[in-house]
Amino acid sequence: MRKQPIGVFDSGVGGLTVLAALHERLPHESLLYLGDMARLPYGNKSPQTIIRYARQAASVLISRGIKMLVVACNTASALALDELRRAFHPLPIVGVLEPGATAACAATRTGRIVVIATEATVREGAYTRAIQSLRPGAEILAVPCPLFVALAEEGWHSGAIVEAIAKQYLEPVFSRTSTDVLVLGCTHFPVLADTLAKVAGPGIQLVDSAHTTAQAVAEMLVRMDLAAEPRAQPASVHFMSTDAPERFARVAARFLPQNLRPYEVELIDL
Ligand code: DGL
Repeated sequence: MRKQPIGVFDSGVGGLTVLAALHERLPHESLLYLGDMARLPYGNKSPQTIIRYARQAASVLISRGIKMLVVACNTASALALDELRRAFHPLPIVGVLEPGATAACAATRTGRIVVIATEATVREGAYTRAIQSLRPGAEILAVPCPLFVALAEEGWHSGAIVEAIAKQYLEPVFSRTSTDVLVLGCTHFPVLADTLAKVAGPGIQLVDSAHTTAQAVAEMLVRMDLAAEPRAQPASVHFMSTDAPERFARVAARFLPQNLRPYEVELIDL
């Protein structure tokens, strides 16, 4: 069991920000990544559809013999985590939302936090609940920013257009005084971090869930006695996409430290 891979999924390439943190933190763990490119974005779909998609993605990874599942999508974590844990018990499943809330609470001094996420994540109120359970009394403003997903997938991370969109979403938000943390509550958003930091202005710390999720996974592996044995070389990472492997590989290069070639991406159907 310890040798089995950890399965990671997202609606597209955003979850690669989490995969990269996992690979860095746990180089001995084999990783199996699934990007549901054919059905992206999840963030504007209904809860029922998001739950159905998440179940299908999890089923494919489970059929490949994973020992743990990481839901590297805030939208699926917000809407489908409980259902996945029920449906696939006793598989250990880690979402990105609680680690993101943990990072936010560690970073804030004032307790005034802005969360940006997809429409579905904001509608569900999941970040607000997760943060307030850790820091009762925190004031959270959650703002849907769906266009950031398309910009991230498109590779538009900076420049006048990206900045104009970010200002349109965020300028009214940061007129609130004493906000000191901006949570990137969607795994696509860290690639826009430079632009977001510029628009948010000094004094606002950006946090995302990639590193705290890797930390949560590392702790769970130890707790459940599932950690892989150390080896000389880093373990393998296998990529799967439900559409357009060449596009996946091209876009993934913007999220990963290394290049990915289209033939390294397995095309699958759910
Ligand atoms: N990466 C997903 C998330 O973290 C959002 C992208 C989408 O809308 O599918 O919420």
